[in-house]
Amino acid sequence: MASTTLVCDTEPWKDLKGHVKEIEKTHLRDLMNDVERCKSMMVEFDGILLDYSRQRVRQDTVEKLFKLAEAAHLKQKIDRMYSGERINSTENRSVLHIALRAPRDKVICSDGKNVVPDVWTVLDKIKDFSERVRSGSWVGATGKVLKDVVAIGIGGSFLGPLFVHTALQTDPEAAESAKGRQLRFLANVDPIDVARNITGLNPETTLVVVVSKTFTTAETMLNARTLKEWIQAALGPQAVAKHMVAVSTNIPLVKEFGIDPANAFAFWDWVGGRYSVCSAVGVLPLSLQYGFPIVQKFLNGASSIDNHFHSTSFEKNIPVLLGLLSVWNVSFLGYPARAILPYSQALEKFAPHIQQVSMESNGKGVSIDGIPLPFEAGEIDFGEPGTNGQHSFYQLIHQGRVIPCDFIGIVKSQQPIYLKGEAVSNHDELMSNFFAQPDALAYGKTREQLLGEKIPNHLIPHKTFSGNRPSLSLLLPSLSAYNIGQLLAIYEHRIAVEGFIWGINSFDQWGVELGKSLATQVRKQLNLSRTKGEPVAGFNFSTSTLLTRYLEGDSGVQSNSTMLPKM
Ligand code: F6P
Repeated sequence: MASTTLVCDTEPWKDLKGHVKEIEKTHLRDLMNDVERCKSMMVEFDGILLDYSRQRVRQDTVEKLFKLAEAAHLKQKIDRMYSGERINSTENRSVLHIALRAPRDKVICSDGKNVVPDVWTVLDKIKDFSERVRSGSWVGATGKVLKDVVAIGIGGSFLGPLFVHTALQTDPEAAESAKGRQLRFLANVDPIDVARNITGLNPETTLVVVVSKTFTTAETMLNARTLKEWIQAALGPQAVAKHMVAVSTNIPLVKEFGIDPANAFAFWDWVGGRYSVCSAVGVLPLSLQYGFPIVQKFLNGASSIDNHFHSTSFEKNIPVLLGLLSVWNVSFLGYPARAILPYSQALEKFAPHIQQVSMESNGKGVSIDGIPLPFEAGEIDFGEPGTNGQHSFYQLIHQGRVIPCDFIGIVKSQQPIYLKGEAVSNHDELMSNFFAQPDALAYGKTREQLLGEKIPNHLIPHKTFSGNRPSLSLLLPSLSAYNIGQLLAIYEHRIAVEGFIWGINSFDQWGVELGKSLATQVRKQLNLSRTKGEPVAGFNFSTSTLLTRYLEGDSGVQSNSTMLPKM
């Protein structure tokens, strides 16, 4: 039954609204002096330490957030997700990415059917196929080993696998397993992305993995047809069977495209695109590059967090705490953005991935029952690894707008370096910043401190830092495949918690449809104008003018013959 109650009408929400006045009287400088408070804001699980003492909260704020969770039926919503109910109501689907990393003997049902055996059938098929490709028992059309992989996909069929690949690249164990192999990602429909991705590759030694849940995404399908042409032009039409495989929920379309369904790796409609990195979407390309055993460790890390999220009380539950604190920052303190700041270059693609998971999930304007929200849901996510971000946008974070920050630090570097005679190792140098920045944000620097330093009067306003800027710190023991899986699952569940509290559907994405359908109209016009010389018609003045100018220019393309990049 649809309920028309919005979370903002509940007593705990109103109570938190009133509580903001109390918090506005506090400063993190003082809150941080309360050691008991800080102790209560340290949470540890499976090697990961969360410190949220630099959030603008007191212990009673956290209690109030738990009351909000109760009013929003958070526990019941999590249970409904884990029990395979169709909580994605606008698409009538269950949300079961947790089943993708479950151990073989776990029972997770969708429509009364245990889906875990199906998951493992595909994982076993990936293990077998990737081992055959890596060992050279599956070879290309000319008998050569397929040492290079181009994964074609966009959005959730790209960003998650790219994040994990980038994170594993310098892990010693993963790097050793990937020796002599390359994994590239072709996402943008921009022909430049095709050119860049095939440069230096030989079709004879390349395997193309077409990754698309629907197998209808315009960008992916054109890129797939382009690389099919690239392979066929070099090796003949029969080569497709050896050089192209697919990952999709839509096996009939895979077949229609010309890929043998025996070379297709399935997943299911209960896996949302942006939650699909643990399905064949990520597992196939990553296993081809690193071998299945490493990817299995990644899945195990995610599974560990799945259990923690489902079974741990809210006071010690990392994703729940993170989700509630985000709701507090967005909906009560009015901070619309969140900066994701990993102090690890290996996590350089983490923020772009979380951008999609978070903004496509929670960027909604109506409740799950279709009622317009009288408050803003979702947040603007962005980020860069430290220390690069410090030399870019941190100025704004320190003295401009208040942006709650997630600092992610690693105890043991994937690639330790120490130069004899240096004060600290290179990783310690990096981590000095990880520890310093949150305090700089929280404490700031006062006029009195500056006067004590004999700073000239006219510079004091410029050198003052207000402080009281919230952040949280996550410290991971290392950045192994297992830890990468943990980090992924923490953020996936945190984002679900936010959506559950806001009462929205975090698992649909209708907002991406309108632009797609308008592009169809433009594509039709471009075809008619280029092939039949028809004038631009049916668009507003602005679009017509731009389109006409575009069509008048030299495109460098002759539509009567195939053209591939010249690089
Ligand atoms: O951007 C919209 C979207 O539907 C994403 O949710 C999805 O990850 C992406 O497109 C790619 O879709 P597909 O895997 O079906 O090609």
